[in-house]
Amino acid sequence: MIDKIKEYIGEAQSFSTENKEELEAFRIKFLGKKGILNDFFAEFKNVPNDQKKEFGQFTNALKNAAEEKVKSIVETLESKEETKGVFGDLTRAAEPVLIGSRHPISIVKNQIIDIFANIGFNVSEGPEIEDDWHNFTALNLPEYHPARDMQDTFFIQTNPDVLLRTHTSSVQVRYMENHKPPIRTISPGRVFRNEAISSRSHCIFHQVEGLYIDKDVSFADLKQTLLYFTKEMFGKSKIRLRPSYFPFTEPSAEIDIYWGLKTETDYRITKGTGWLEIGGCGMVDPNVLKNCDINPDEYNGFAFGMGVERIAMLLYQIGDIRMFYENDVRFLEQFKANI
Ligand code: DAH
Repeated sequence: MIDKIKEYIGEAQSFSTENKEELEAFRIKFLGKKGILNDFFAEFKNVPNDQKKEFGQFTNALKNAAEEKVKSIVETLESKEETKGVFGDLTRAAEPVLIGSRHPISIVKNQIIDIFANIGFNVSEGPEIEDDWHNFTALNLPEYHPARDMQDTFFIQTNPDVLLRTHTSSVQVRYMENHKPPIRTISPGRVFRNEAISSRSHCIFHQVEGLYIDKDVSFADLKQTLLYFTKEMFGKSKIRLRPSYFPFTEPSAEIDIYWGLKTETDYRITKGTGWLEIGGCGMVDPNVLKNCDINPDEYNGFAFGMGVERIAMLLYQIGDIRMFYENDVRFLEQFKANI
């Protein structure tokens, strides 16, 4: 008889379920009116006296085991129900989390910043609403200078001294006014020109300006810096510096990179040549240094300005510049992987 009770104790202790009905069946089997325990209690009177003590102890042990088991399973089932109520089913398969994407212009701008940061350039910024001095005059473009016509300017109201900056070169001036050489800075930002909108040009776009001022800076330094940049940015090392004219640099050049003609978009963006102009550059004109209180006999340097949209169009094969400003989520969502 004792062995039988021991067997039941083992069964009660090893019982487990997550199901309420099974638990109730277990309770009835052991603790119910017609259950095992009551059978043993009824049997008590027939047990020989010398065995009564042991029999009583084991029956009580079985009772405790069965009661504890029921209690602990009820507790776990209840706590599961509570969590379900607050958090839903925690064992449910996860739903995909929708993440946003960065704008392609921001992605490319950040890449440019990282590349120049690696060779010691810091980042500087200036206002989008500028005055005549910073956007034109200090950059060696005095009033009535014909080169002002190159940049169709949006003036604010009727005050010709307040305008939307036409290039980020204005930040060069601000930076030189406030910092002494050596200077190594890049200035990313939005610029504005009163131009007809087409697939290749827009009235709002982005530039990154670069400025390097120190002693004995040469045109070779400029070329190497641009080569380093194009290698890092595009994995290509074929660039072309075409002689050009900017009032704020002397000599000046236009920067072209050789991209190739693999796709139809390459043809469209490079006008079928494989070459794309990504910006301008040159040795900073001594007049600009003078305007910013830097002695041109002691210091010289180079500057460059690049269009961010052009670079992004090439990298992501975007055939129409207007896509950047339409905020079409179907377009923007394609850049999720590039964050
Ligand atoms: N500011 C010029 C533009 O918007 C680009 C440029 C050319 C910037 C030569 C420079 C430079 O710093 O040296 O077309």
